[in-house]
Amino acid sequence: MILNSLKKFKFVASIFDKMLDRVKQLIGEVASFKTTNTEEVESFRIKYLGSKGILKELFSEFKNVDPASRKEFGQALNNLKKAAEEKVEALNRVLENAIEEKGIYGDLTRPSEPIELGSRHPISLVKNQIIEVFNRIGFTVSEGPEIEDDWHNFTALNLPEYHPARDMQDTFFIEQDPDILLRTHTSSVQVRYMENNEPPIRTISPGRVFRNEDISARAHCIFHQVEGLYIDTDVSFADLKQTLLYFTKEMFGKSKIRLRPSYFPFTEPSAEVDIYWGLETETDYRITKGTGWLEIMGCGMVDPNVLKNANIDPNKYSGYAFGMGIERIAMLLYQIPDIRMFYENDKRFLEQFKSVI
Ligand code: PHE
Repeated sequence: MILNSLKKFKFVASIFDKMLDRVKQLIGEVASFKTTNTEEVESFRIKYLGSKGILKELFSEFKNVDPASRKEFGQALNNLKKAAEEKVEALNRVLENAIEEKGIYGDLTRPSEPIELGSRHPISLVKNQIIEVFNRIGFTVSEGPEIEDDWHNFTALNLPEYHPARDMQDTFFIEQDPDILLRTHTSSVQVRYMENNEPPIRTISPGRVFRNEDISARAHCIFHQVEGLYIDTDVSFADLKQTLLYFTKEMFGKSKIRLRPSYFPFTEPSAEVDIYWGLETETDYRITKGTGWLEIMGCGMVDPNVLKNANIDPNKYSGYAFGMGIERIAMLLYQIPDIRMFYENDKRFLEQFKSVI
């Protein structure tokens, strides 16, 4: 009986020694493993650390090990695991650096000429052109967040709670919180600007805006705007009209505009600006629907409530604001028939703007 159990113990002990040897040998193998191939790193990882890997198998042997030797065996296994994990990490780091270096130096065997020039996106081209025109008469550029709160996008702009523009149809809300939304216009930037700056204010706010609209050839749920704001003592509607005239002359080379009465909650009076495009070509007929006139933006005198909301004294100051869609103007200038082309990143479309700076 005693002999029997002794034998058994010896047997267990020798299995244990063998297993320990195997673990040590595996640690050696892990240490000497080398590769610069992503797939080989992955198959190494699966071989050792995968859910059916060597380590899993060895750990499952744990229960068969004599309790007295478990500690030693456990430590050996942990060493192996650590070695395998560190190896995978180190190999991946080398691979990542190699990719980065390749990115920096590119393919050194490529011929140096001709260097292919990229092109600016038509939205950027038109945006920069608009900014430049307004820069010349003293407007600076201001930008603000695309994720806005209700105050800056609506409430401060005199948009009462029941206003249709607040409808779920038009506004993207963030995670069901009715206070946080994607801005529907860059007028929100103007509110921020007024809150943080004293008049005189002359600023334009270009940026991306979002509206929950069906996508079609004429409309998209993401588009770009440039909005302008001028606040000083004695600013009149005549100042607004003169500025718009200057802009249309510089931007389109057209010097006839008309202002049609309109409504915006944040301006009073408000107007829609049309430019006389002319009726010289067939395209002119098509884009102006045979009238010769084209609507290009909205404008008006800043409502005194809006000034008050931004801590500007409406008895001392007055101002005008205007806003236009960049896509619409780019479509006119470059005769682009479908607004979706701006966002498809089709090289054939974008390449056509190569010669424009
Ligand atoms: N914010 C308006 C829009 O999104 C445009 C606008 C700006 C109109 C300023 C009047 C004054 O359409």
